[in-house]
Amino acid sequence: MAALRFHSCFLVLYAALLIQTRCHGHLCLPEKHVALFVFGDSLFDAGNNNYINTTSDYRSNVWPYGETFFKYPTGRFSDGRIIPDFIAEYAKLPLITPYLHPAYSQYTDGANFASAGAGALVGTHRGFVVDLQAQLSYFKNLIGLLRQKLGDADARALLGRALYLFSIGTNDYVAPFATNSSGLLSYSREEYVDMVIGNLTIVIKEIHKNGGRKFGFQSLPPVGSLPSRRALNNSAVTGEVTARVILHNKALSKVLVKLERQLKGFRYSMANMYNFLGERINHPSKYGFKEGKSACCGTGPYRGINSCGGKRSAVKEYELCDNPGKHVFFDSGHPTEMANEQFAKLMWSGTPNDTGPYNLKALFEL
Ligand SMILES: *[C@@H]1O[C@H](CO)[C@@H](O)[C@H](O)[C@H]1NC(C)=O
Ligand SMILES: *[C@@H]1O[C@H](CO)[C@@H](O)[C@H](O)[C@H]1NC(C)=O
Ligand SMILES: *[C@@H]1O[C@H](CO)[C@@H](O)[C@H](O)[C@H]1NC(C)=O
Ligand SMILES: *[C@@H]1O[C@H](CO)[C@@H](O)[C@H](O)[C@H]1NC(C)=O
Ligand SMILES: *[C@@H]1O[C@H](CO)[C@@H](O)[C@H](O)[C@H]1NC(C)=O
Repeated sequence: MAALRFHSCFLVLYAALLIQTRCHGHLCLPEKHVALFVFGDSLFDAGNNNYINTTSDYRSNVWPYGETFFKYPTGRFSDGRIIPDFIAEYAKLPLITPYLHPAYSQYTDGANFASAGAGALVGTHRGFVVDLQAQLSYFKNLIGLLRQKLGDADARALLGRALYLFSIGTNDYVAPFATNSSGLLSYSREEYVDMVIGNLTIVIKEIHKNGGRKFGFQSLPPVGSLPSRRALNNSAVTGEVTARVILHNKALSKVLVKLERQLKGFRYSMANMYNFLGERINHPSKYGFKEGKSACCGTGPYRGINSCGGKRSAVKEYELCDNPGKHVFFDSGHPTEMANEQFAKLMWSGTPNDTGPYNLKALFEL
């Protein structure tokens, strides 16, 4: 009797599962499955740069990166989780493995293509990173695989329900001033911003053409307030970079409104990282931090010299704070897990004054 009851209970469960899932061979997906595709730079890179030919300046696969959550360095530029990790958690997805990781096989949950140092422009840190165009070609390879596994119609449905998350642009504005060899400084502010946004727009339109509908963006951070810029202490350069970043943020907001009119079914979320970080840098204790300006890990003024982990080319020595959770910044340019979590919450469920017109939760549920 007990066995019989167990059996029929099992059948009911099994039937319920059948109704809500679609199977392709042994691969079954819930009908409403929403995948997460991640593009961008070090704020979103979960370890892709571990698998490209680059230098230790573009990698964080060394302790104390990862010390808080993973307990070992994964290639994330933080003491713990980064923003896409939290978004995946809120969306009830597993952590999204870096696309270039040899064990990556999570095709239907999404993929992370982000690469530390990358920009929207091919020339930004060329030869050391996977630029946004190259990230797009990896995405197109993945689409081919999804079609093989799911068939054209179901692959397109998956791509249409998926969320496409971007963190890109900061490196495009910072790099020309650091390397000073590219001739890019001769572009006016407006011309340069048009070029960065123009290249980002190409990628958005390509993803849309391949079925993508839901996009998540964030404004660029207040670069002048990053520990790295404070340590540089060059107000002329920092002023120029900041002016370009502010112009970029305005231009991006405008172009997204335009794309919403132009592209069929295009929906987006724009979260205000500029204000978010500015607030925490200037009023850390309001948000549970003790230190807003100095990094936890690094050396020099504000620990803003990029030496965390001791393997970078310029400077090897570094200091490390006791409690990263009390800092807004972990290293010279990247937030701690605590700050990442707060920002991910803002993206997920923020109100229209700082996350709009949709928040990510609303996009996932569309
Ligand atoms: C990796 O990059 C270095 C320096 O850019 C270059 O000398 C080397 O040939 C590259 N290796 C591969 C396998 O591409
Ligand atoms: C860049 O190079 C120009 C001359 O080529 C020089 O005047 C300028 O100071 C340099 N800027 C930086 C940030 O090194
Ligand atoms: C994209 O960037 C390149 C420089 O890498 C530039 O020549 C081109 O005009 C940009 N495209 C658009 C549409 O802005
Ligand atoms: C920044 O530079 C100014 C003058 O160039 C100098 O007075 C100041 O001490 C410097 N600050 C730091 C933190 O190095
Ligand atoms: C947005 O609105 C919320 C709730 O009304 C408020 O707590 C928050 O400070 C506002 N943020 C900004 C950037 O104005």
